[in-house]
Amino acid sequence: MPSEPTAAAASTNGALSPTMDVAVKIWRVDPETGERALKTYEVEAPEWVTLLDVLDIIKDRVDGTLAYRKSCRMMICGSCGMRMDGAAVLACKTRMADIVAAGHVPVISPMGNLPIVKDLVVDMGPFWSKMRAMKPWLQPGYEEPPEGKEYHVSQERMNVIHKEALCINCGCCVSECNSMESDPDFLGPAALAKGMRFVGDARDGADVERLEEYNSEHGIWDCTRCYFCNERCPKGVDPRDAIAKLGAESIKHGIDRDMGAKHAKWFVKSAETTGWLRETELVPKTQGVVSSIMQIKFAMGLARRGKVPPPFPPHVAADVKEARALRDIVQQQGREGALGHVQGERALSYIEHHTTAGNRHAPEITPGEEPVNRDVGERP
Ligand code: SF4
Ligand code: SF4
Ligand code: FES
Repeated sequence: MPSEPTAAAASTNGALSPTMDVAVKIWRVDPETGERALKTYEVEAPEWVTLLDVLDIIKDRVDGTLAYRKSCRMMICGSCGMRMDGAAVLACKTRMADIVAAGHVPVISPMGNLPIVKDLVVDMGPFWSKMRAMKPWLQPGYEEPPEGKEYHVSQERMNVIHKEALCINCGCCVSECNSMESDPDFLGPAALAKGMRFVGDARDGADVERLEEYNSEHGIWDCTRCYFCNERCPKGVDPRDAIAKLGAESIKHGIDRDMGAKHAKWFVKSAETTGWLRETELVPKTQGVVSSIMQIKFAMGLARRGKVPPPFPPHVAADVKEARALRDIVQQQGREGALGHVQGERALSYIEHHTTAGNRHAPEITPGEEPVNRDVGERP
């Protein structure tokens, strides 16, 4: 049942705020025994509360033993990552009013992929050791500017790492990472986004050494591209995009020993030669001839069931010239590597901004006129 405001609470300036009844279920974990118990808490809280405020009220008035992390309360410090209904959130960013109005009782649990210390507190040790492995500090590789001058970095170069620089190290992306779930040694989205932050920095001179390291086992090519990290990052870092940029930079620098890099290169080659992905050749081009021969029985089975198109002659798309022209433009503009990704991101956001849906909440208003309802093309 939707909850109505029930009373009023004194705000910090003495004014009364409407309150609501908030219920949450919290997974409590006993560090001594490892026992887990799902406990329900109901508290009265002002309508403006976040999940973190609710936890504070529970700890203050109901059960002082509840453990969770917090510090800034304003989405800066990255301390309050946890899961709500199985998805990682920052508690201080999550408003409760709509959840209460929907009559929903959310389940709060600790972040995933990190060892639980107590209740909602996880051990961030593995997170920090992967961060350290990225060598997250500048290794200067630029010429000193002349006396009295500053080193200027162009806006175009800053755009490459703009999103990565927004990371607050909360771990929400790591919590949701599918690849880390099956391989805890995978460097993971947060650390790799930090790596891109330095690989893409125009002042850093260690980009090739960094890329060599990130291309090792448990590195960039182990990402399954599930995009959960992009979906759950509360700061818009888009770690999967950062990993894609690292891949593109690696190939640009000729670091392509991993099967993942070979796979990506074949996609490009196939598209520019035929306009299609030549799937039959994908396995030998990616895994090499010996590995392909070992899989010949499996391939024959697929061929018998019509799942493998004959590789010769390759089917060439009617408009293949367009694919080739696109490739030529990218090369002429020098937008290989991460710059190409940034250009793609900007193109997508431009398209989104100029669609009807993008303008829906930002109608053009001429002073003195009623706003036009763009959804129906009429005045409301
Ligand atoms: S896209 Fe890659 S890094 Fe991101 S959550 Fe999925 S597997 Fe992990
Ligand atoms: S990339 Fe996003 S989700 Fe991951 S640690 Fe940084 S801010 Fe948090
Ligand atoms: S308390 Fe700092 S990010 Fe939530």
